[in-house]
Amino acid sequence: MLKSERAYLRPTKTDDIPYRYEWFNDMEFSRLYIGKSVYTSYEQVENEVRVAMQPTPYSGLMELAIQTIEDNCYIGNTFFRKINWQDRHAEFGIFIGPKDRWGNRLGSEVTKIMIDYGFQELGLHRIWLTAFTYNHRAIRCFEKCGFKKESVFREVIFSGGVFHDALGMSILEGETEIPYANSL
Ligand SMILES: CC(C)(COP(=O)(O)OP(=O)(O)OC[C@H]1O[C@@H](n2cnc3c(N)ncnc32)[C@H](O)[C@@H]1OP(=O)(O)O)[C@@H](O)C(=O)NCCC(=O)NCCS
Repeated sequence: MLKSERAYLRPTKTDDIPYRYEWFNDMEFSRLYIGKSVYTSYEQVENEVRVAMQPTPYSGLMELAIQTIEDNCYIGNTFFRKINWQDRHAEFGIFIGPKDRWGNRLGSEVTKIMIDYGFQELGLHRIWLTAFTYNHRAIRCFEKCGFKKESVFREVIFSGGVFHDALGMSILEGETEIPYANSL
């Protein structure tokens, strides 16, 4: 089982659906994560969870739920998607739903574990992500974990009457000096 100091990662399950539905319909969360303050239907969340629960070698998706060790709460998810086994790269993603858990260093703790897992167990060479440029907390979290800024997707989203940029970031195999898991 993947585990950091304060959280463990477990498979996604249907019990997670109501929590995800609530988080995705918090307008601050959805602006940060999806880029827009929009409604997400229960069916859509249900469908995403069911897809995540049945990964196939061809789906290119590996998603896990984040569960705290101290109080045993489900607080979010982390994943690799668009996994390309031939060129050994994948997109990384993470979200923590409850706002009172933000900025508590759990995101960087889990991201480091996933980077380790991606390079050492999945055999990836490159892990990449995008974040909206106004999502300063997420960008700082990813930088702390070794992701480097590499590109700007100009005016990629129209939200709140304004176009916003997204930042492309990546980390390559060998750019973490020691396995993060050993440094915890
Ligand atoms: C992004 C996310 C996973 C990060 O996890 P986290 O536990 O909140 O992040 P961490 O506490 O590990 O790191 C956040 C860092 O940003 C800093 N930070 C917080 N608010 C900030 C702000 N407004 N501007 C700049 N830095 C900020 C924190 O101080 C911390 O840095 P430090 O450890 O050097 O002090 C989590 O906040 C989240 O899920 N947010 C909502 C969904 C989301 O944005 N997902 C990512 C989409 S790309």
